[in-house]
Amino acid sequence: MSNALPSSGPAAPAPVANPALFLRRWLANPLQMGSIIPSSPALCRRIVAAIRRAPEEAVLELGAGTGVIGRALLDAGLPPARLIVVEIVPEMAAHLRQVLPGALVIEGDARRLPDLLARSWHGRIGSVVCGIPLVLLPLAEQRRFLDAIEAVAPGRGFLHYSYCATSPLPWRKHGLAARREAWTPRNFPPASVWRYTPMR
Ligand SMILES: C[S@@+](CC[C@H](N)C(=O)[O-])C[C@H]1O[C@@H](n2cnc3c(N)ncnc32)[C@H](O)[C@@H]1O
Repeated sequence: MSNALPSSGPAAPAPVANPALFLRRWLANPLQMGSIIPSSPALCRRIVAAIRRAPEEAVLELGAGTGVIGRALLDAGLPPARLIVVEIVPEMAAHLRQVLPGALVIEGDARRLPDLLARSWHGRIGSVVCGIPLVLLPLAEQRRFLDAIEAVAPGRGFLHYSYCATSPLPWRKHGLAARREAWTPRNFPPASVWRYTPMR
């Protein structure tokens, strides 16, 4: 006979899109968040559709927020061990560990990606998704993120979702090719998915 206390059952899983957490962070630092609510399911689907990777390659998401995109990737069949997310806000990184079990959650500044990401992953990233609001940054700051991405995923470029009517990045100045891959009105604000690729 066990003398363990009766269990109240497994804890309910944390909701993925946590609007209260998102709004709290937006109030604390609007420029870092870039939006007041999490990405919509429609936007997540468009990002998932744009992902390219070989079976052994990972997907890297920068500025993963509440984890809705990562969750959509897992639900679409990405093995958790092939999902890497980076998030600068400790409270959000803790939330990501709950809602993306088995994924690698890196708490830190994506500009330091080459140091934060284990070397064994460098060159083994199939797609990078960037949710950090780069449009709000000066050119030199944008460059730091682009250099960090190129260092760990050379030649792959990245997907970037944005609420701008035109390209959120001055792509020619950064030596990138740009292509709008998708747009959805079913997001607040309506959003585009851009693919930026280094010009050779
Ligand atoms: C537009 S929000 C992400 C939205 C996310 N798709 C969601 O629905 O929850 C941008 C995220 O980038 C994070 N972020 C901003 N600057 C960052 C940096 N330098 N490194 C890593 N994450 C950063 C913010 O904390 C925020 O969670």
